Amino acid sequence: MDHFAFIIHPLDPKADVARKYPRLARLLPVPLIHFLSRLWPPLVLSHVTGIRSQATGAQVEGWLLACPLTTRQLTHLPARVAYRKIIQTGRLAERLNVDILGLGAYTSVVGDGGITVARALNVAVTTGDSYPVALTVQALFKAASLVGVDPAQATVAIVGATGAIGSACAELLAPKVARMLLVGLREERLREVARDVQRRGLDDVEFSTQIEAIRAAHLIISATSAGRPIIFPEHLRLGAVVCDVAQPADVSQRVAEERRDVLVVEGGLVEVPGEPDFRFDFRLPPGLVFGCMAETIALALEGQFEDFTVGKEIDIEKVNRIEAVAARHGFRLAGLRSFGQPVTDEQIRMIRQQVEQAAG
Ligand SMILES: NC(=O)c1ccc[n+]([C@@H]2O[C@H](COP(=O)([O-])OP(=O)(O)OC[C@H]3O[C@@H](n4cnc5c(N)ncnc54)[C@H](OP(=O)(O)O)[C@@H]3O)[C@@H](O)[C@H]2O)c1
Repeated sequence: MDHFAFIIHPLDPKADVARKYPRLARLLPVPLIHFLSRLWPPLVLSHVTGIRSQATGAQVEGWLLACPLTTRQLTHLPARVAYRKIIQTGRLAERLNVDILGLGAYTSVVGDGGITVARALNVAVTTGDSYPVALTVQALFKAASLVGVDPAQATVAIVGATGAIGSACAELLAPKVARMLLVGLREERLREVARDVQRRGLDDVEFSTQIEAIRAAHLIISATSAGRPIIFPEHLRLGAVVCDVAQPADVSQRVAEERRDVLVVEGGLVEVPGEPDFRFDFRLPPGLVFGCMAETIALALEGQFEDFTVGKEIDIEKVNRIEAVAARHGFRLAGLRSFGQPVTDEQIRMIRQQVEQAAG
């Protein structure tokens, strides 16, 4: 049987340390947790079993590994210090004889996005960031069809279009939509992404550094690293559909309270085939994982042990390939969720009603 490992790390220092060391977490103040995370050794969190391909019947097992560095340490320490700790965690995967290693959360964002880590280890490495691109577009289109928006007639905005996920979503969507608006912080990079979109066959593409520009969009993907809400009720047109992939979320909770005509869905969640037992509480409904972990598992089921997604540029051909591989093995887009809750028929009915009433 083939094996995978997937690295995660504390996102919420107090709560996540409490999952492993409840008493210690009560005693330690947060600044001390950040400091100690540099000294703490990597550890095995759980043994994952029960994953089975629907196509081949093959089974894989794996391990969840903890890189102790908190998000703040990973983003603020010099990259070489972060690499050292991630590589140390990767050595644990080597000792467990795994065939492929996935880099979760900010362990794939640091520095060069996995290139240095992959070079240092004797195991195939993936950031897992190709599959979430496919899942984001799938979630956006599913949400659009629920409220009756046809992407081929729609203006689509990508917020965070200069980033890895945002720019790849823009390229993937280019042949499928009527018009595109790219929003980001750096004009020069936005111009480059606009050229890539045009190369993929969409001429009608504009860019802006102002978030207000998204008011023209019927469909929106938001994938920034802002780390706080940047999309508020006043930024959205009547009946807009938003797929928010960012963690923490880009869309303000106020949108849920004030805009009953708008559908906001989370991107990137997927059902794993078989009867997976993660022996770890991801704070997600049973059987669901984020797309980056699903990519690691899908590559293990496929027996494709190569550095699949590394670096900050996501290759669209790989997005298409991993989407097909995952679908074949039985991975499925999870039911749509909005602000942590499943999207309901009643919610969709209400959105359609509000849009029809406003349209007269
Ligand atoms: N759900 C999943 O499975 C999944 C998987 C991977 C990533 N993610 C999430 O997706 C997001 C993007 O990830 P990534 O790997 O693409 O990161 P990335 O390459 O760092 O891209 C983030 C982009 O957001 C831009 N940005 C930051 N603040 C902004 C603002 N206020 N307005 C507009 N643009 C802004 C950044 O611009 P500058 O470069 O100019 O700073 C950067 O280009 C993150 O929140 C990440 O956690 C989710």
